[in-house]
Amino acid sequence: MGCLGIIGGTGLLELEGLVVEKRREEATVWGAPSGPVLEGTLNGRKVAFLHRHGTPSRIPPHRINYRANVSALAAAGCRRIVAVAAVGGIRADLVPGTLVVPDQIVDYTWGRGHTFHEEGLDAPVHVDFTSPYDRALAASLVQAAADAGVAVVAGGTYACTQGPRLESAAEIDRLERDGCDVVGMTGMPEAALAREAGIAYAHLAVVVNEAAGRAPGPIRMEAIRAVLETAMEAVRRVIVHLVSPGSEASA
Ligand code: HPA
Repeated sequence: MGCLGIIGGTGLLELEGLVVEKRREEATVWGAPSGPVLEGTLNGRKVAFLHRHGTPSRIPPHRINYRANVSALAAAGCRRIVAVAAVGGIRADLVPGTLVVPDQIVDYTWGRGHTFHEEGLDAPVHVDFTSPYDRALAASLVQAAADAGVAVVAGGTYACTQGPRLESAAEIDRLERDGCDVVGMTGMPEAALAREAGIAYAHLAVVVNEAAGRAPGPIRMEAIRAVLETAMEAVRRVIVHLVSPGSEASA
């Protein structure tokens, strides 16, 4: 079923255990991706890894060439993408350290290259986005977490804000009224582009802070870094189980 693409977010700069066979460096028709696509095997399964912010991390969320990233993974033969992303927790139970596999998205971004269907078309293309995440892949992630003994929250609505600044407390109140549970800056247009490209896409979101106004005082980067360090170990375990031969999740 083609290789599994893994997009690493903040805190997941590399994929431990990945045996790299090829570094795909070419630019796409949409320009250069954030960095090389590392193609190889993880636990014997074909995977391709791309760090969303580049290595070392240098590209802020609003400057990422999402079209090039998704195109590069498509060119590597990926039919499924698991996107790892750090998020703020809006819902009270989604405290730092929680892993979430969301099932809905609200997009608050603007001005990003958000479609492959720009011009030269016979007719406008409107992909269905009712369920923005691939249900089967999301279910596989939840199963992989269970196999790995890692707790995840299945379902929830991911709000994608423009960044790079964090939100005001009033903006988070608004997102909550809109029904959002977690907030990040990179899920869109990534998810929509994957849908346009016919690639199954799911998010493994890691809550790294309480969203603005949900805890006393400002959001501190040192605290986020500390959470990332421990949470990424859990993320790696989930991914390894996802690709493990014989695991139900890898089917
Ligand atoms: N808001 C937006 N994006 C984020 C946050 C947040 O609180 N935490 C990590 N990414």
